[in-house]
Amino acid sequence: MKIKDIKAIEILDSRGNPTVRTFLTLDDESVGVASVPSGASTGSHEAVELRDHDQKRYGGAGVLTAVNNVNQQIKTALMNQTADPKTVDETMIKLDGTDNKSGLGANAILSVSQALIRAISVSRKIPLWKFINEYYFSEKPFFPKIMFNVVNGGKHANWNFDIQEFIVIPQYQLPSESIKVGSEIHHSIQKSLKSKKLSVLVGDEGGLSPALSNNEEAFQLIIESASQIGYENAKQYKLAIDGAASEFFKAGKYILKKDNKEISGEELIKYYLEIEKKYLVYSFEDVFQEDDWDNWTKFKSQLNQNNLVVGDDLFCTNTKRMILGFEKKAANATIIKPNQIGTIYETIEAIKLAKKYGWAVAVSHRSGETEDPFIADLAYASSADFLKTGAPCRSDRLSKYNRLIEIENKL
Ligand code: PGA
Ligand code: ZN
Repeated sequence: MKIKDIKAIEILDSRGNPTVRTFLTLDDESVGVASVPSGASTGSHEAVELRDHDQKRYGGAGVLTAVNNVNQQIKTALMNQTADPKTVDETMIKLDGTDNKSGLGANAILSVSQALIRAISVSRKIPLWKFINEYYFSEKPFFPKIMFNVVNGGKHANWNFDIQEFIVIPQYQLPSESIKVGSEIHHSIQKSLKSKKLSVLVGDEGGLSPALSNNEEAFQLIIESASQIGYENAKQYKLAIDGAASEFFKAGKYILKKDNKEISGEELIKYYLEIEKKYLVYSFEDVFQEDDWDNWTKFKSQLNQNNLVVGDDLFCTNTKRMILGFEKKAANATIIKPNQIGTIYETIEAIKLAKKYGWAVAVSHRSGETEDPFIADLAYASSADFLKTGAPCRSDRLSKYNRLIEIENKL
């Protein structure tokens, strides 16, 4: 099977910002379509998302350069080439010629990488997850648990909280059960907020974003709302946070605006250990700045080993950063975001390395998403421990959760 045509266009993501959508056609006329997401609290070690910086269009956020890179350089290099995902990804990595995909743009490259895999699954008339599983993995897939970001803060909600995400993880193996519990908790929080005459507007990832007076009130709100409908913390669901701490780190200090405090890494460790005890927080993602390795290591050594210390901006789905993190004993789990590294081949390499280390794997969306549910298939195909794709609210998030329900029903 060979690649017959590639065409990229500029579309808009869930925040209304431009992003890349690519259509890839095989010589049997099968077409694969892929759309690329975009982060807001991005890590500085991520692959480069190419933006036009033409202030006359979309305030500089246009992606016509990336679109042209697909339609010209990438298309020329791949036309009539064998439709083999790994070889095609390696060809694009070489063509880009940089360490961080700044040559062609990770948004350009990833759109082709993803579209090819989808086109092959269309051609073979098998589900996307099945092709990914057969091509890259040997073991039978199992469903991920779900991380629902039910209360949004930080950059995703204009800083109503310092902590970016307050997450519930229903403890069920079937997606339909997890999604039901996640949605019921989300609605119960909404109801509690209405009764307190607080805002029920949602942030970038569909989670509620009330103006509470501090971070801790968010835990109380979730725990109380869930218990009102019969779900108990650390039983039917577990609590997690994503600090996105690089966003509130300045000149060696962590600035907690809500509490009007500037604290050291040591003090922040104490704070996390306190909330672990008080609210039974199970999983801690990006709780320190992305290069503050010492505090990551210290925190990990002091936390109960059954809890998760999750690197997102810390690793950026980059195996080089993960090797460092393993040596430094900085984490025991990783977020996996294809657009942080730029190809599906390298994304899968990162998943495989995490598994080799015995780390938990959480396949994740970005705060700027599209309706493309690719990551749901990826999470299942790779038997990831978690799929993390926002609140069970808004179609950019639901497209992934609904896709898991589809997969569950076709089994
Ligand atoms: P981002 O946020 O997509 O804005 O980077 C998601 C996350 O930090 O997990
Ligand atoms: Zn994160």
